[in-house]
Amino acid sequence: MPGELTPNALVTLRARYLRKNQRGEVVENPEQLFRRVARAVAAAEKAFGGSGAAAEAEELFFEDMAALRFLPNSPTLMNAGTEMGQLAACFVLPVADSLPEIFNSVRDAALIHQSGGGTGFSFSRLRPAGDRVKSTMGISSGPVSFMRVFDAATEAIKQGGTRRGANMGILRVDHPDILDFITAKDREGELANFNISVAISDGFMAALNRGGSYPLVNPRDGEVVREQDAGEVFRTIAAHAWQNGEPGVVFIDRVNASHPARHLGEIEATNPCGEQPLLPWEACNLGSLNLLRFADRQGVIDFPQLGEGVARAIRFLDDVVEVNRYPLPAIAEMTRKTRKLGLGVMGFADLLILRGIPYGSEAALRAADELMGFLRRESLAASRRLAQERGPYPGFAGSPGQRAGEAPQRNATLNTVAPTGTLSLIAGVSSGIEPVFAFAYQRHVLGTVLEEVHPLYERRRRLGEPIDPRVFVTARQISPEWHVRMQAVFQEHVDNAVSKTINFPAEAPVEEVENAFLQAYQLGCKGLTVYRDRSRRQQVLNVCDSK
Ligand code: CDP
Repeated sequence: MPGELTPNALVTLRARYLRKNQRGEVVENPEQLFRRVARAVAAAEKAFGGSGAAAEAEELFFEDMAALRFLPNSPTLMNAGTEMGQLAACFVLPVADSLPEIFNSVRDAALIHQSGGGTGFSFSRLRPAGDRVKSTMGISSGPVSFMRVFDAATEAIKQGGTRRGANMGILRVDHPDILDFITAKDREGELANFNISVAISDGFMAALNRGGSYPLVNPRDGEVVREQDAGEVFRTIAAHAWQNGEPGVVFIDRVNASHPARHLGEIEATNPCGEQPLLPWEACNLGSLNLLRFADRQGVIDFPQLGEGVARAIRFLDDVVEVNRYPLPAIAEMTRKTRKLGLGVMGFADLLILRGIPYGSEAALRAADELMGFLRRESLAASRRLAQERGPYPGFAGSPGQRAGEAPQRNATLNTVAPTGTLSLIAGVSSGIEPVFAFAYQRHVLGTVLEEVHPLYERRRRLGEPIDPRVFVTARQISPEWHVRMQAVFQEHVDNAVSKTINFPAEAPVEEVENAFLQAYQLGCKGLTVYRDRSRRQQVLNVCDSK
């Protein structure tokens, strides 16, 4: 019940989630927030089962949220039942190679940011810097310089009046401007509203493997501009990621090869944090189950309960697709065609602590495999049941799944592991599948400093119980190899992707970053994000006592 919210959760809810009147006074309590969201989302069911079904769903959804068993992504919590009504966190917009189309995308992104969503873009279709522009006989300024326009527009808009807009900028590794792109964030403050990621092709990885080169291609006419040494580009990516965490990489051919709706088009980009690859114009709403609410004090999961929780969450998220007010007609059309969902988890590291399992261990990988495998199967079963009741997603016709004779699904994709940056704060558990960052620290958010001591750590201290340092392990104490292996195990059971940061100690050599990228590719990850301790001047979290 809302009574269990931590003081920090309440601060966060008051600052951003609870409704306010025109004077800025909070006019809603947490229980009313969950009621508002449950009612607005459950209203979708009137179309399927009448008002009886909607009333039943409302109660189930309310109970799950109020008990902090399940939370939908922030825009749903903020906007459900309001006039705005935009509920998805993740969007991808196309960027085409003409001035009017580029500025249309800037405008569309602004509308999405205003509604609380984050946007991802591939800039790979833009002709390179210095290329000719026919209409003016001038020369193009290239993808990186247009990214600055998106960045400036984002700077001017606060998302939903509550948070700053977030963007993902992606460029294919075979774009002629790739080296400019990799170095685009070298100066602190440049492209501050962007995460950047290089779309790496299998062809590039093959060239890297044989120590050879690969062609850089002008997207305007498909002409090969020159041959580029793959090793040089790879080392530049790793060196920059080592330096300040960017760029990340996305293995774009793997993303497309495993995309269940690949008959509808090519995926070129992901949402801002990388866990949600999407087609152009597609949006996706996410939600996360709080694993601790399905476990006992020893961290043993009640699987039948979890299975039911998964089914309710899938039903909730599918209802969101129905009632969501999309910011643009093209987005409504595309999103309703695939009805993608992203159900994931939070509190995984806390669960391991309860069980006495070190995060970087074979036992932890087995736990992840069992858990996410179960979640995957239950999600699939739930979406197939919904397809029988409500019909399959319209894009199912002609999909590889349909042609292979698989049972229809209501949703093209079902699972995503999100960062759960604020959701985990509200639920009071470790975020996503990340290890605990620190057991006591100060968090700088919303202009204030929140003091946080990890609850399981605090409890042991209070009871004078011993702290097992193998189990109470922080992200920086876990080797990069274990981080990547954990990401790969979750990815195996996730049809979208996995938000995960591979942490390195400050003194790690750049070769370790290179190895992590190679390991991620070999183990079947869809992308990778690294962070070396102290490599950015501004860190959100400042550790004051990690042990
Ligand atoms: O916890 P919460 O629902 O607020 O978000 P998250 O799980 O940390 O992030 C999920 C997604 O929300 C991101 O990948 C972005 O697409 C979007 N997001 C955003 O647009 N702006 C932010 N400031 C944070 C997240």
